[in-house]
Amino acid sequence: IMKRKHIVAGNWKMNMDYDAGRDLVKAVADKLQPSDTLVILGTPYIHLRNAASIIKDISNLKIAAQNCHQEESGAFTGEVAAGMLASCGVDYVILGHSERREYFGEDDQLIASKIDAALAAGLSPIYCCGEKLEAREAGTENDVVGAQVEAALFHLSTEQLAQVVIAYEPVWAIGTGKTASPEQAQDMHAHIRALLAGHFGQEAADGVSILYGGSVKPGNAKEIFSKPDVDGGLIGGASLKAADFIAIVDSF
Ligand code: G3P
Repeated sequence: IMKRKHIVAGNWKMNMDYDAGRDLVKAVADKLQPSDTLVILGTPYIHLRNAASIIKDISNLKIAAQNCHQEESGAFTGEVAAGMLASCGVDYVILGHSERREYFGEDDQLIASKIDAALAAGLSPIYCCGEKLEAREAGTENDVVGAQVEAALFHLSTEQLAQVVIAYEPVWAIGTGKTASPEQAQDMHAHIRALLAGHFGQEAADGVSILYGGSVKPGNAKEIFSKPDVDGGLIGGASLKAADFIAIVDSF
């Protein structure tokens, strides 16, 4: 059995001014112990370059952006291309977050093109998928998430898939304090992995780290991470305090 990478990624969302962000990166860098768990900080654009330089000698700490544009360059005022992120020392980019889908009209086709742009620039996408409460209540969550995974990832090569991290974030669990149960997370992660295996083969599917996101806290991380198909977490609110975030990292 191949060993998948354990990953704990923070998604700061639109939080932290320049000084507070610098202090948070430094605090995480100071407290983080060397381990096999890969830790990623997903910061707003303004922090990326400085964050990358603060963490550069720490082998299990990396930086992610929270979005990128799908084109390489050009007249797209206010946008940032994947290659520009890579040039700052960024290694990952969060794509398809439910907040981007909901508030910025991102659909599966656009997200797929952003994934392509990220891969072409040498970035690893952290692809977010997840159903809304209505779908969960109607019992259609597997179909909804399956369609998201297929639309965003099935056009990739096996080599490209190996660069992708998946984050399952049920929308009803984001910022609500309502976590999916460890069993609900495990069931969906196993479903996603089975879909990947059906399309890319079992070996490729077994290599993909699938993270759970949605109200992960120091108090519930251990139980969630103990499930066999849960390879880590994508952490929102609890990534804004170094002590909480490190406590989650240490839950593996
Ligand atoms: O991307 C992380 C996320 O959406 C979960 O946020 O605050 O519920 O941990 P939170």
